[in-house]
Amino acid sequence: DELKGEPLSSSDNHQEIPVVGRSVVTLDDLSTGQIRELLHKAEYIDAHRREVAHACDGRVIATLFYEPSTRTRLSFETAMLRLGGQVIGFAGSQLASVTKGESIADTLKTVSNYVDVVAIRHPKEGAALVAAEASSVPVINAGDGGHMHPTQTLADLSTIQARFGRVTGLTVGLCGDLTFGRTVHSLIETLCRFGDVRFVLVSPDELKCPQYVIDRIEATPSCSYVECRDLASVIGDLDVLYMTRVQKERFFNEDDYLRLRDTYILDESKLAAAKRDMAVLHPLPRVNEIAVEVDDDPRAAYFEQVKRGMLMRMALESSVIGDRLPGYEPLGAV
Ligand code: CP
Repeated sequence: DELKGEPLSSSDNHQEIPVVGRSVVTLDDLSTGQIRELLHKAEYIDAHRREVAHACDGRVIATLFYEPSTRTRLSFETAMLRLGGQVIGFAGSQLASVTKGESIADTLKTVSNYVDVVAIRHPKEGAALVAAEASSVPVINAGDGGHMHPTQTLADLSTIQARFGRVTGLTVGLCGDLTFGRTVHSLIETLCRFGDVRFVLVSPDELKCPQYVIDRIEATPSCSYVECRDLASVIGDLDVLYMTRVQKERFFNEDDYLRLRDTYILDESKLAAAKRDMAVLHPLPRVNEIAVEVDDDPRAAYFEQVKRGMLMRMALESSVIGDRLPGYEPLGAV
C-alpha cells in the first residue's frame, strides 16, 4: 500500500538547510543547489584522490544492511576508507540483535553513539526515516523497500552529467519494473527538479510507474511523459535508456514474477536502432535484462555508474559529517 501511496519523506521543501549534520532519506532532503554541489565535489574527488585521502581521518561510518547489497554497501564502506575513516556494521540482520526483536529506532539510538554517520538499507518503506528520527548522527538511506534510493540517484545523475555535460534537455527512457524500482522513482523525482526532461516510461501494464511519481512529472511544467509497452518502438528517440531488473524479492506471487521477468532484454540487435551517443544505465545487479554483449558497446554506462556511485558517496559522507576536502573550492551551496 505504501508503494502506491504518498511519498515518504522527512522534507520536500528543498530549502537550503546546511548539509552538515543532515540525514538524507530522500533527495528532497537536499536542495537542488546542494545536489549540484555534490556532483561538483565528486568530480573534484575523482581528480584528487590523494589529496582527499585523510579528509575523514578519525571518522567512522556504520553500514546497517538488513537486505542484500553488493555495490551500495561496499561503496559506502570504500568511500569512508578512501577518505581515511573506518567502518563498522552488519550485512544481513541475522547477526544483529534485530533477531532478538530489537527495533530500528533502538538500533539507531545505540549505533549513533559509536559513529559519525550511518548508512541503512532495509526492506521496509519508511525504515530510513524511522532510523533518521532516532539517530543522533546523520543517516543516509541506502534503499528502503520499493520507496527511494537517493545515493543511487546521485550516481545516476553523475553518470548522465558526465556523458552529456548536463542532466536537462534530454529524453530519458526508463524500462522494466517501474512499480518496484525504487531507483526509478528517485531518478524521476530528482530529474523533475532540474526540469526540461521528457520521460518515456516503458513497462508491462503490471509494472507501471506509481501514481505519485506520475503526479510529480505532471506537476512539473517543463517535463512530460509517455507510457508504452514496446521498447523497440521508442529506443531511437532516447538519449538515456535506464534499464531495470524485475524485482523478484518484492513480488507477492512467484508466477507473476516468472511471467514478467524477461519482458525486456536489451541486446546489440535492439541497440542498432538507438542513437550513437545514447547512454545505457542500469543500477545493477542485472539478471537477463541487458545481454553481456552490450558491455563492450560504448553506449554501456552501467559500470561507469558504479564508480560514480562511490565518488558521490565520498562527496556525501564528507559533506554530512562536515569534513573539508583539502584544496576543494565549493560552488557555494554545501
Ligand atoms: N544498485 C544497487 O543498489 O546495487 P546493490 O543492491 O548491489 O547495492
